[in-house]
Amino acid sequence: MKKGLFITKSTAQLAAESSDDSHGLKRVLSRWALVSLGIGAVIGTGIFVLTGHAAADFAGPAVALSYVLSGLGCLFAGLCYAEYAAAIPIAGSAYTYSYATLGELVAWLIGWDLILEYMFAASTVAVGWSKHFLPFMKDFFNVDLPEQWCRAPLDYVDGHIVHTSHFVNIPAMLLIWVITWLLVVGMKESARFNNIMVAIKVVIILLIIGLGWGYINPANLTPFIPEQTGELGKYGWPGILKGAGVIFFAYIGFDAVSTAAQETKNPQKDMFWGMIGSLAICAVLFVLVSIVLCGMVNYKELHVDAPVVYALEKVAGDSLKWLRMAVEIAVLAGLSSVILVLLMGQPRVFFSMAKDGLLPPMFAKVHPKYGTPHITTIVTGLLCSVLAGFLPLNLLGELVSIGTLMAFTVVCIGIIVLRRTNPGMPRPYRTPWVPLVPILGAGICVAQTVLLPPDTWIRLFVWMTIGLVIYFLYGIKHSKLRKEP
Ligand code: ALA
Repeated sequence: MKKGLFITKSTAQLAAESSDDSHGLKRVLSRWALVSLGIGAVIGTGIFVLTGHAAADFAGPAVALSYVLSGLGCLFAGLCYAEYAAAIPIAGSAYTYSYATLGELVAWLIGWDLILEYMFAASTVAVGWSKHFLPFMKDFFNVDLPEQWCRAPLDYVDGHIVHTSHFVNIPAMLLIWVITWLLVVGMKESARFNNIMVAIKVVIILLIIGLGWGYINPANLTPFIPEQTGELGKYGWPGILKGAGVIFFAYIGFDAVSTAAQETKNPQKDMFWGMIGSLAICAVLFVLVSIVLCGMVNYKELHVDAPVVYALEKVAGDSLKWLRMAVEIAVLAGLSSVILVLLMGQPRVFFSMAKDGLLPPMFAKVHPKYGTPHITTIVTGLLCSVLAGFLPLNLLGELVSIGTLMAFTVVCIGIIVLRRTNPGMPRPYRTPWVPLVPILGAGICVAQTVLLPPDTWIRLFVWMTIGLVIYFLYGIKHSKLRKEP
C-alpha cells in the first residue's frame, strides 16, 4: 500500500466495505432496473438536440460515425468500469476505483470531477427541459407561461456574462425539487418513475426511426462525409472527431449505474449488464436516429432548437403532427429521467467520500426509513436547482463532457494499474484484452477532448484547482485511511 498523498485502499479493506451492508442503503435493484437506469440517464438532450448541431456544424451525415466513434470510447471505458463495479461494488464509482489504484489525491480529484459530470450535467439538462416545457404547455394546453420566470437572469454571450431581462428559471428549479423528493423517498420509487419515462422515450424513438425511415432521401446522405473546409473540424474526418466530442454528451450517464452498486441485489453479476446493456441499446438507437434525421433533411438545416421536430414537419407536414407532439412528450420524459439518474449518482459519490472522511460525516447519513442518503441528496438537489435557476449554463456544457472524459480515462488507466498491483483480487467480471481495451478507451476519450475549445480546458483547470484547495484544507486532515495505524 502506497503512503502519503497517494495512499491506496487495500483489497481487504475494499472487500470488507463492499460486503458490509450496515451502511443502511437498501438492495432493491434488479438487472433490468439497472439497464433501465442506464437508458434513463443516456437518452436526452444529446440525441434530441445535439445530433442536429453536430451534423450541421461539424460532421454532416457522418454524425452517425461520430456516434460510432464516441460509442466505442464509451464501450471500452464501460468494459473497464464493469470490472471495477463487479469487484468493488461501492457507491463511489470512479472515485472509489481510483482510491484503490491511483491513490487518495487522484481519487479526490476524480470525485471532484464527477461533480462536474453529474451535478452540472443535471442542471444543464434541467434548463433544456424548461426550454421544451414552454412550447409543450402552449401546444398541449394553450397556456403561455411568462418567459421572465422561465429563464435565468444571467447569460453567457461571446465570452462575457451578461444580464438578461429574466428573473429566474422556475420550471427547471421545480423539476429538480420534485426529482430530489422522489430520490429521498426511495430507490424503488425512483426506479419505477424511471421505468415509465424510459418506456415512453424508447417507444417514441422507435416510432421516429420506423416512420422516418420512409422519408429518407438518399441525396441528403451523399456525400456521407462532406469535404473538409479550410476550418479545422469542419467536415471531413476531423469533423467526425469534433462531432464525437460534441455528441459525447449523449452517452453521459451510463456510468452513473455504477453508483447504485450498493443498492443492487446482485452487483457482481448485474453491473456489467446494467452498464454495457444500456450503452449498447442506446448506441444502436443513436446511430439509427442520426441516419434518419440526416436522411430526412439536408444536414445544413439542422442547427435548430428541436431538429427532430423540424425534420418531421418539413418532410411530412401535418400528416405526422401526432408524432411531432409525441416527440415533445418524449423529450420531456427523456430529460426528466436523465436528471433523475444523474441526481442519483452525485449524492452517492458524496456519500462514499464522506464515509472515507474526505467530506464531513453528515454526508454519510442514510435515512432510517427510506434507506437513501437523504442529506447528500437534498444538498445536491438544492445546489443543482440554484445553478439551473440563475446561471448561464451554456458555459458548462463542454465542461461537463471534458470532465467525464477525464474520469473515463482515469478509470481505463486504473484497470491496467490494478491488474499489476492486485493480480489476485477476485474479479467476478474481467475486462477483455487488457491492456489493449483500456488503452483504446483512454486514447479515444483523450482524442475527443483535443478539439474542444481552449477556454473549456481553462475552466477545467480552475475547477480542479478549487478541488485541490478544498482537499488540502479539509480532506487531508480528516481522511480515515491516513489516520489508520
Ligand atoms: N446523456 C444525457 C443527455 O443526452 C446527459 O441528455
